[in-house]
Amino acid sequence: PRSWLVVPAAGIGQRMRADCPKQYLTISDRFVLDITLSRLMSIMAWQGCVVALSSTDRWWPASESAADGRIDTCVGGSDRADSVLASLQYLSGRAAEQDWVLVHDVARPCIHRDDVLRLVSQLADHPVGGLLAAPVADTIKEVTPGTQQVAGTMDRGRLWRALTPQMFRYGPLMAALHRGVRDDPESITDESSAMERDGQMPEVIAGRADNIKITVPEDLALAEFILSRQAS
Ligand code: CTP
Ligand code: MG
Repeated sequence: PRSWLVVPAAGIGQRMRADCPKQYLTISDRFVLDITLSRLMSIMAWQGCVVALSSTDRWWPASESAADGRIDTCVGGSDRADSVLASLQYLSGRAAEQDWVLVHDVARPCIHRDDVLRLVSQLADHPVGGLLAAPVADTIKEVTPGTQQVAGTMDRGRLWRALTPQMFRYGPLMAALHRGVRDDPESITDESSAMERDGQMPEVIAGRADNIKITVPEDLALAEFILSRQAS
């Protein structure tokens, strides 16, 4: 089956506290969004690519990506899952039920080609799909809600950090996200959680720990450092 690329880029970057959404901050004079998209577009020949943008976005026309004829845009929603759903709906009529869709956060510019190719090849024959993930390095505590009291220590050997891309089949992913957003929106923080909620068992593919999501101000310098190291 064919592979489509969906890039949710409709967030406002509240935690970044910048003057513009974080995907339009620059590293070496390029938008984070352009770094992410140019990397993804050069990895493989996608059947198509959709970027979900906020209805209030005024920066996209100034991006390099806007001039890339392979990239389509649609209007995203108020949550990440809504933006992914809008992108999938944009593809309806073009994507087939069993086609693969890779969903990647625009805020992860350090995505490495090898990780994407490994995800795609290792899941090629998988019935459900899966996601890049990294083993947890810290000891994780469970704390009783409403208190500061430690209720227990999680078994770290079983814990993974969910990264992107996440790769699922078009029809099942759209159905799972639709139900998840309708019935339990708080719990749908990535594509995998929607699939899990639907009773599916996604697989984790070990990915690079440097595939960070730019979230808070100090992450921008960290991403710049990671990108410079990858280039050398
Ligand atoms: N995203 C989206 N539509 C939304 C919210 C988020 O497309 N309504 C995208 C973001 O652009 C980002 C990804 O989902 O690529 C991960 O979200 P996050 O890191 O939370 O980004 P923001 O929502 O922009 O940041 P914040 O939560 O700090 O406001
Ligand atoms: Mg957010």
